Amino acid sequence: MKTIVITGASSGIGAALARHLGQEGHNLVLASRHAASLNAVAHEVRSHVITIATDVTRRADVNRLCDEALRGFGSIDVWVNNAGRGITRPVLELTDGEFDEMMSVNVKSALYGMQAVVPHFMARGQGHLINISSFLGRVPIATHRSAYNAAKAALNALTANLRLDLAAKYPAIHVSLIMPGLVSTEFARNAIGSASATAPPWTPGTTMKPQSAEEVAAAIASVIEHPVAEMYTNPASAPIARRYFEDVDAFEEGLREKVNAGPA
Ligand SMILES: NC(=O)c1ccc[n+]([C@@H]2O[C@H](COP(=O)([O-])OP(=O)(O)OC[C@H]3O[C@@H](n4cnc5c(N)ncnc54)[C@H](OP(=O)(O)O)[C@@H]3O)[C@@H](O)[C@H]2O)c1
Repeated sequence: MKTIVITGASSGIGAALARHLGQEGHNLVLASRHAASLNAVAHEVRSHVITIATDVTRRADVNRLCDEALRGFGSIDVWVNNAGRGITRPVLELTDGEFDEMMSVNVKSALYGMQAVVPHFMARGQGHLINISSFLGRVPIATHRSAYNAAKAALNALTANLRLDLAAKYPAIHVSLIMPGLVSTEFARNAIGSASATAPPWTPGTTMKPQSAEEVAAAIASVIEHPVAEMYTNPASAPIARRYFEDVDAFEEGLREKVNAGPA
């Protein structure tokens, strides 16, 4: 049985993860801004659970989340930085405020989490930090997500750097990056800007089937069980990423053909 902190646990992937891990009997600390939604999720969880209203864009809130989790359970085994938000805005229309908001909720939030909990992991000599990124942080092909793609790319870099920094001295501290593809949640509706944007121009000839939040939660739970550096939750992702990095020109040429052909 582990003690696991999950941010963004009031909906979507975070809520599904809480339900999944609750069934496995883990102690859970659930965080997000809306206490009522969090408590509704907590009621569905059968194991020991604490809910803490937290705005992850505020460092003091994230530090308090860590303190409360330690006060409640004595130690933390796993911390999942899952809270995040999208945007529907092409690069040329981004405002300063929108860009800052994307970095704040998707990158600085996770930085605060890492800086709050990793010293505890170092003191114990063990622990598992998991950052929920996106396939779009690796392959930025949904152009209308612009600053979201950029923020998740930054999160990917910070995650890899933290892992390398800890590896030699703290072999029992794991740092994992999870990159879901399309997941059926309220994410698009909660994104800044119109939720009615056209579907992302996925690679021609490739359909990325949306996953359910439960499928993604099961994938994250498997990483908690067997830590890995990185995971794409959607089996379609790795072949697309390989093609992208092999030849970006050819890849983008294919995208242009698809866009020019119009919606299927
Ligand atoms: N859905 C997808 O297609 C998809 C694909 C790849 C990656 N992801 C990533 O998966 C993660 C979860 O997304 P989701 O699909 O489950 O979306 P969601 O249903 O919109 O859930 C987002 C969660 O983040 C919380 N949150 C947002 N802003 C917050 C803040 N300032 N402070 C604390 N909590 C905050 C929300 O809770 P409150 O509103 O209560 O604060 C909610 O619990 C995100 O990091 C997202 O980028 C999603």
